[in-house]
Amino acid sequence: MKKVYVETYGCQMNEYDSEIVKTVLADRDYELVDSLSDADIVLLNTCSVRENANRKIYGRVHRIKHQRNGEEVKIGILGCMATNFRRKLLDDGSLPIDFIAGPDSYKRLPDLIENLEVEGAKPFDVTLSEFETYADVYPSCREKGVNAWVAVMRGCDNFCTFCVVPYTRGRERSREPENVTEEVRRLADEGFRQVTLLGQNVNSYRSNGHDFADLLEMVSSVAGIERIRFTSPHPKDFPRRLLRVINANPKVCRHIHLPLQAGSDRVLEMMARTYTRQEYLDLVDEVRDLCPNIVLTTDIIVGFPTETDEEFEETVEVMERVRYDAAFIFKYSERPQTIASRKFPDDVPDAVKSARTVRLNDIQQAHTLERNRAHIGQTHEVLIDEERTKKSDEDYQGRNDGNKIVIFPKGAYRRGQFVTVRITDATPSVLRGEVTDVLTR
Ligand code: 5AD
Ligand code: SF4
Repeated sequence: MKKVYVETYGCQMNEYDSEIVKTVLADRDYELVDSLSDADIVLLNTCSVRENANRKIYGRVHRIKHQRNGEEVKIGILGCMATNFRRKLLDDGSLPIDFIAGPDSYKRLPDLIENLEVEGAKPFDVTLSEFETYADVYPSCREKGVNAWVAVMRGCDNFCTFCVVPYTRGRERSREPENVTEEVRRLADEGFRQVTLLGQNVNSYRSNGHDFADLLEMVSSVAGIERIRFTSPHPKDFPRRLLRVINANPKVCRHIHLPLQAGSDRVLEMMARTYTRQEYLDLVDEVRDLCPNIVLTTDIIVGFPTETDEEFEETVEVMERVRYDAAFIFKYSERPQTIASRKFPDDVPDAVKSARTVRLNDIQQAHTLERNRAHIGQTHEVLIDEERTKKSDEDYQGRNDGNKIVIFPKGAYRRGQFVTVRITDATPSVLRGEVTDVLTR
């Protein structure tokens, strides 16, 4: 029995895909191991959305070879880097890897590995599919916990000019809602309390005449699943009905991740985001109007080609207006194949990108603290997900509806239960409080 070790980089979609990979391999009698040093086969499920993700993998492959010096170990690259870097990884020989499988090839992975011994067989399979949704693979090798990831669609057709996803993950396709709901029902039977529905752009979910709001309603009918999260919607064409479902359906969490990317209309247009700054701000007003106190988070790219200081200040202005609960700030990094890499020279100096990143992170830190402190004195429902915290065995932690971490003293309650917590303190990273009640659901 071959022993396989899987390491995952990047987004939650990759976490889910690793669970699919593990399931496919376990079904074909591979043994999954938790330690690199026990493995015959090491799989790195990679991300190529931002540059440092690539560098990390290069370093990691060399370290694995060094650590397992002389021993027989095969290294396979999966995920987004696979499609984009096939030639570089295999042909120029600078990376000591043995095979590559792209995001739509995981069902053929056992064959690919077995054929490595066959002379003349190709050591890669990166063909992208218009149809593969892994609807017939139920990931039985999931990470245990209260939350389970569920991919409801794959790929992306938006072609934002900076983004490599349409090239690495291919065309957009949705899973049938009945199939998603069936998976969620099994998750409830296994004891999961929360699902997070994943898609590159859930607003364009369409299947059997249903849209994403319908899907949320269908999933929320599953008994035992008490919370439903999703990520991410695109700000263009945000369906109002989705906002009404978020507001009215108690299982759907009141948190929207709404990637802004930039605050200048000229930059947004170069990015092909298809909304203006004003349209984005109007949407935020509408979201807050329909769903008061909703948690809003975002992604921002600084130093997109030709972005001036004045245009960067427009991003600052949007942040000051919206005052997000959290924001993920990225330095623009040119990705192969993308429209931006072909049309726009990466001309903002790295030092400028760094300074802009520091500035936005400082602003966000203040906004997060302000938003978190506003919760002091309130009582939140918290789903317990850890019976300890990073810092203490005397505390437990969970998440509130808005996905904020809440820490409270340990007591007669356990992981997977809901408690109400009165918030007494806040930092930019956590809320802290006292348990006032243990809920029975
Ligand atoms: N450079 C920097 N950040 C990027 N992102 C996507 N592509 C790039 C890139 N080329 C960021 C976007 C996206 C998040 C997942 O990653 O902000 O929303
Ligand atoms: Fe990339 Fe834009 Fe698609 Fe998001 S919507 S995955 S940023 S192309």
